[in-house]
Amino acid sequence: MATISYDRKTQNVGNMLALEHVNVTVPDQGIATLFYLMGLGFTRDPYMTVGVDNMWVNLGRQQFHLPTRPDAQVVPGHIGLVVPDLDALRQRLRIVEPRLTGTEFAWSDEDGYVAVTCPWSNRFRCYAPAPQFGEMVLGMPYVEFPVRPGTAAGIARFYERVMGCPAEVRNGVTSVETGRWQTLRFVESDAPERAYDGHHVAVYLSNFSKPYEFLQEKGLITEETDANQYRFQDLVDPENGEHLFTLEHEVRSLYHPMYGRNLVNRNSAQRLGGYTRDADVFQSA
Ligand SMILES: [Fe+2]
Repeated sequence: MATISYDRKTQNVGNMLALEHVNVTVPDQGIATLFYLMGLGFTRDPYMTVGVDNMWVNLGRQQFHLPTRPDAQVVPGHIGLVVPDLDALRQRLRIVEPRLTGTEFAWSDEDGYVAVTCPWSNRFRCYAPAPQFGEMVLGMPYVEFPVRPGTAAGIARFYERVMGCPAEVRNGVTSVETGRWQTLRFVESDAPERAYDGHHVAVYLSNFSKPYEFLQEKGLITEETDANQYRFQDLVDPENGEHLFTLEHEVRSLYHPMYGRNLVNRNSAQRLGGYTRDADVFQSA
């Protein structure tokens, strides 16, 4: 019998099973609609927060949460996105461009991705589906943050030892596994650190209590939301307690009622001219 050798380690997952959403406040839902739905081609969640106080935007199995506030929150660094068709994305961006003049909106073709800046300066890199993104055809494979020089190794220790996530440091970049084909990335940078403005990421943990025990003992829990969720925002070196970076994590257990929620995604190629019957729903393949 022929033997095939597999690297079984490639199939391991860490304690963080999904990076579900990025939450940034926006001052204007009309402009957010132009950008996230018409421009990027994503889908407004039809069931939750359907008014003008907040918008949930679905992209594959991930979301943006966009509460309305006077000040926009901006994630330092950039957010990686996978979209099914970069040419279709370029077309949509050209269409919304004139309606977003006077904002920070911008886009450009770069080597291997389309760089897009939202009307309030959040930066995105949009990639076509590729083997590095696994089966993701539409979604958010990573979020990348600039961090102070000398902190990458400590951030890796925090995620490995406190959160239970595999983390790898290479050339000053800490890459933390946060689910299938998803990572949080931290890149050392000499640029001055921007004051933290309250944006957050939501993640689901398999072992929900072990990180909590450490964070609670250190006084780092910032919100006891309910039985299924807590929050923290200080990333510290578990070896010496040094504060390394600030990023609010909305931490959810697998018993959270929204875990594995079926997110509605539309086929953004549908339009009046050339409408295709029975093709409204986004099909990943
Ligand atoms: Fe959230």
